Amino acid sequence: MVESGAWGAFWKTVTTGDFDMERFREIVKTIPSDLKLIQQWARDTADAPVADCDVPYVFVLLQAAAFGGKAVDRMDGVWKHPGFRSFWEPTETSERRSVVNPMMPLPATIERRVADLVADSRLREVTVKHCDAMTTIPRGVTVYVDPPYLGTQQYNGRTLDLPVFIEQAQARGCDVWVSEAKPLLGGESVRLSKGRAKGGISGARRKANQEHLTHFTTNRGALMSGPWTPFEWAAFVFGSTLLIAAMVWLYYISP
Ligand SMILES: C[S@@+](CC[C@H](N)C(=O)[O-])C[C@H]1O[C@@H](n2cnc3c(N)ncnc32)[C@H](O)[C@@H]1O
Repeated sequence: MVESGAWGAFWKTVTTGDFDMERFREIVKTIPSDLKLIQQWARDTADAPVADCDVPYVFVLLQAAAFGGKAVDRMDGVWKHPGFRSFWEPTETSERRSVVNPMMPLPATIERRVADLVADSRLREVTVKHCDAMTTIPRGVTVYVDPPYLGTQQYNGRTLDLPVFIEQAQARGCDVWVSEAKPLLGGESVRLSKGRAKGGISGARRKANQEHLTHFTTNRGALMSGPWTPFEWAAFVFGSTLLIAAMVWLYYISP
């Protein structure tokens, strides 16, 4: 998994086994039990300095408190957020009859779910890179991309040049599958049933967003074409130097 936003920091800590559940519980304990005070807690927490090692823990809590479920992120040492939810209770005249919680889910549920993830040994087999997807396109694999929808700016300016990414991944022998709000030119698309009605970045939607999955096949022969990464160049130079050194030793030095 490659994710440049704060989710990348969270998933990386979970999958490497570095997630400190005790520390997370300490931070969860700072959230007031009075639901009416949680919005202010989130504001104060977002304004307060945070140690780098606490970023994944604070992030997942601020994200749950974010207004409309919109993206929270950490950029240049500052939290980017859309503001935080307030606690709302139905009035005598309001149509809605249930309360709106200031965190979704509430802290106890987040703590339980995170504990389940941290205890799940299968996640140790997942490799997470917390970086820009453009900088780390592997060779000869199947790539699934769930990018920010084209033409939107929902992730605090984090974005992916999708046509360039697809072209580079194909040139590196990858099969590419992309989720988008519309079919993409140059690939084969299927419309996924009715789209995602819930759980989007703006929370529950009145109208379900359409979702299309587009497949771009590759020419497996392209496996070693396409631009080399700095790592591949380094491996090439190191390997060649080793080979030349071994030949020199064999022909000129060895008795
Ligand atoms: C539609 S969301 C994906 C959500 C994810 N699939 C999930 O279900 O939780 C798009 C994600 O792409 C990330 N993103 C945007 N540009 C990126 C880039 N260049 N490299 C890596 N991740 C990027 C954003 O931070 C955002 O979390």
